[in-house]
Amino acid sequence: MTKPRIAVIGAGLMGHGIAQVFALAGHEVVLTDADAPTLASARDRILANLRDLGDDATALARVRVSPDLGEAVRDADFIVEAVREDLAVKQKLFAEIERAARPDAILASNTSVIPITAIMGGLAGRARALGTHWWNPPYLVPLVEVIATQWTAASALDFTMKLHAEIGKTPVRVKKDVPGFVGNRLQHALWREAISLVENDICDAETVDTVIKAAFGRRLAVLGPLENADLVGTDLTLAIHRTVLPAIDSRPGPSPYLEKLVAQGKLGMKSGEGFRTWTPEQQAALRARVLKHLKAARASD
Ligand SMILES: NC(=O)c1ccc[n+]([C@@H]2O[C@H](COP(=O)([O-])OP(=O)(O)OC[C@H]3O[C@@H](n4cnc5c(N)ncnc54)[C@H](O)[C@@H]3O)[C@@H](O)[C@H]2O)c1
Repeated sequence: MTKPRIAVIGAGLMGHGIAQVFALAGHEVVLTDADAPTLASARDRILANLRDLGDDATALARVRVSPDLGEAVRDADFIVEAVREDLAVKQKLFAEIERAARPDAILASNTSVIPITAIMGGLAGRARALGTHWWNPPYLVPLVEVIATQWTAASALDFTMKLHAEIGKTPVRVKKDVPGFVGNRLQHALWREAISLVENDICDAETVDTVIKAAFGRRLAVLGPLENADLVGTDLTLAIHRTVLPAIDSRPGPSPYLEKLVAQGKLGMKSGEGFRTWTPEQQAALRARVLKHLKAARASD
């Protein structure tokens, strides 16, 4: 049986990696991008990744690039969008995709946090619209959150779950289309408290990161928080929450400390300073450390 044909819209950081994963698993992929230089470099970036990972470089032959959105999506069975995180851009794009795609093609957005309903709620064919939220880099991090809206057909969800399992990802179902889905809600609940600890001078930024990396971060890849709560007991978890939860940050908006950093142009590594200062060597070392860790995790899967 022929494998579903894939179209990936956006050939940036996420899009080229998503195309790579589908191609490596034997799917024909068409990749498109509004920016000509980004599209022109996409196959070279995929080839470099495949070689770096020791994956089958002949997979590149299954990736075709096209500058024409209509042509790119016309024959696709599954269309995934990975353009920049801008609601208006994504809404306009999906209106164009809906006009050009086959009526039975499934339409997916890789948005990080925007509800799928906001992006695709205005489409005529809402039953085939859903979210597939990958993590960076797509060829090293296993999870894909598959997000249903109130209109998504069960058949579209089943197809998408099966498709992503077959290409070697770890798809999970998200039953309600809430901002941030599951992964980014959890991640940013932690980041809110991390920032609050620094803002309230309880410790410095380096200490926050050391506490996580040298303590529960060591266990997180093999022990989720709810497994951990069951391990120590829900009664102990309740006792801890009675003491700790009233003391931790529960403000509904971004921290003023974070707002001030941004207003001061302290944008993190790209400006050399954010919560901490970063030399180019320190930035390179951190990126290399993360990549090495993720590659080792993939190798041990
Ligand atoms: N970077 C991450 O870690 C990450 C993780 C998960 C999800 N995401 C989400 O994936 C999406 C893409 O993120 P990214 O980091 O790959 O961004 P990116 O900036 O690297 O790539 C986006 C690409 O989209 C192209 N583009 C913009 N508008 C377009 C249009 N109308 N038609 C065709 N191409 C268009 C741009 O030219 C660019 O090449 C965003 O929604 C982001 O939130 C990002």
